[in-house]
Amino acid sequence: MESLAGYVYKAASEGRVLTLAALLLNHSEAETRYLLSYVTQLAGQRSTPLIIAARNGHDKVVRLLLDHYRVDTEQTGTVRFDGYVIDGATALWCAAGAGHMEVVRLLVSHHANVNHTTITNSTPLRAACFDGRLDIVCYLVAHNADISITNKYNNTCLMIAAYKGHTDVVKFLLEQGADPNAKAHCGATALHFAAEAGHLEIVQELVRCQAAMVVNGHGMTPLKPHRGAGAAGRSFANDRENYDIQRTYHYLHTAMTERYRDPDNVIAKELLPPIEAYGGRCECRTPQDLEAIRVDRDALHMEGLMIRERILGSDNIDVSHPIIYRGAVYADNMEFEQCIKLWLHALRLRQKGNRNTHKDLLRFAQVFSQMVHLKEQVLASAVEQVLSCSVVEIQRSMARVDTAAESELPQALDNYESNVFTFLYLACISTKTTCSDEERARINKHIYNLIQLDPRSREGASLLHLAISSSTPVDDFHTNDVCSFPSAQVTKLLLDCGAQVNAVDHDGNTPLHVIVQYNRPISDFLTLHAIIINLVEAGAHTDMTNKQKKTPLDKSTTGVSEILLKTQMKMSLKCLAARAVRQHQITYRNQIPKTLEEFVEFH
Ligand SMILES: *[C@@H]1O[C@H](CO)[C@@H](O)[C@H](O)[C@H]1NC(C)=O
Ligand SMILES: *[C@@H]1O[C@H](CO)[C@@H](O)[C@H](O)[C@H]1NC(C)=O
Repeated sequence: MESLAGYVYKAASEGRVLTLAALLLNHSEAETRYLLSYVTQLAGQRSTPLIIAARNGHDKVVRLLLDHYRVDTEQTGTVRFDGYVIDGATALWCAAGAGHMEVVRLLVSHHANVNHTTITNSTPLRAACFDGRLDIVCYLVAHNADISITNKYNNTCLMIAAYKGHTDVVKFLLEQGADPNAKAHCGATALHFAAEAGHLEIVQELVRCQAAMVVNGHGMTPLKPHRGAGAAGRSFANDRENYDIQRTYHYLHTAMTERYRDPDNVIAKELLPPIEAYGGRCECRTPQDLEAIRVDRDALHMEGLMIRERILGSDNIDVSHPIIYRGAVYADNMEFEQCIKLWLHALRLRQKGNRNTHKDLLRFAQVFSQMVHLKEQVLASAVEQVLSCSVVEIQRSMARVDTAAESELPQALDNYESNVFTFLYLACISTKTTCSDEERARINKHIYNLIQLDPRSREGASLLHLAISSSTPVDDFHTNDVCSFPSAQVTKLLLDCGAQVNAVDHDGNTPLHVIVQYNRPISDFLTLHAIIINLVEAGAHTDMTNKQKKTPLDKSTTGVSEILLKTQMKMSLKCLAARAVRQHQITYRNQIPKTLEEFVEFH
């Protein structure tokens, strides 16, 4: 039945309606129900035949399942959209998000709940707003979809449409009475989102609507005009699509003029203290300040970033994106120092705001690797700061694994492991960075801290196991130019910082068991040699057995590692005796001192 369920799913997923009908022939009701509610896990998605058919827009399949088999429209699953993982999505959510109007119509006419929300409280209407499908939006609203349901960040449908630049959807939602003044958790309104993404027409629409509400006596405070223009200015400075530095100046200028319109009542800015990442600059306060940077591209970019941080607040989720973008532009121009300053600032903001910083950390590993590869100097203090953030991130990802609901666990684990890998790249980079003794000590302290947390992979591999395993994945954007595993340097570094040399993974393998299986013993002999020596010198037991009762020597896959191991083995009488006890299954429990029992056991 289970493999049949796999075929049913595949047929539904590919829209092969005849095959599907054939597969479902001649089954009892219970069997059919089983097949059609069976959840298939594939490519990060967990879904039923109905959900996957809706996701992929196969209306004939959906019709068959609904009309003929009366499949429950409220089944939920986990689907992927544009790199996002959506948990708790119904077929209707999927069809609306993927823009399949016919499927939407079928589901709604079969009484699918138009207000059903996913785990993050997203509705089908929200999915359609994200996608900008006015036809689906109208249809859902015409069928009583609630336009005021927000997601878990109190982010409204209007905000997402405004952010994604779907002007027609924004206009429609406003006509339907969507509240333009609603605020998300971060404090932003739809206007902020539109301005942020540089959608001028939507900004105007929203400003007009808010103004109209005031005129209509709704008692709303009108938006001060300088804020609207300033918001647009800041987004033009930093938005990829709307890159236009002159317009940036124009808008900054308009905003400034607005502040000075009434000379007796100048609207002063509340400035943030200067931030090093922005070149230690302060925001322009007067028209003269602004005039002075008119043709200074860098200064204008920084001005945009500063205004953004001031208006949106440093904990706004999207303040960091343009900073990162600007940093990337610098990196592409080989101005690495500027890039790293900005990225460190963004990293700190994101970590302070409790955001997942895995991608930020990996980005650092990539740019550092690129620098090492180009023989550009990487500052030890930068590596140190990133390593320190990396330890915090791993600590948080461990906690996320501990508290994850079952449906979130696979992703939490993926994230946790990726963070550990990124840490190893950074540790590897640190071995290639010139450091003073003091800097080295600070770096080692972070490594020590992580070793104390003892992060493990799914297979129970410790940091040391991962550092000497050729199966540890290496990111392939610049990182692999500089980092590879097994790494003798990282092994040494970890051992120096207190890594347990005899730690075992879930199969009972020690790091020594792993390295003797290295399959490049000739071309990378030096690595193999250095690691074995390092492990043995740090006290690795050469005769410790894993769960299959195999010692590292038994697990050696090449003559080279066998010889290396044999030359390093310092067999003692104690070890030989322990081996003999195990081999001949001699009773030893309660016959020898307790401390020796453990010793016998790992032989
Ligand atoms: C959806 O929400 C709207 C507005 O609250 C309500 O009128 C409608 O009955 C709801 N529909 C369902 C199916 O819950
Ligand atoms: C989210 O919106 C609800 C209802 O409008 C409100 O009660 C709640 O305080 C808001 N939460 C935050 C953090 O803004």
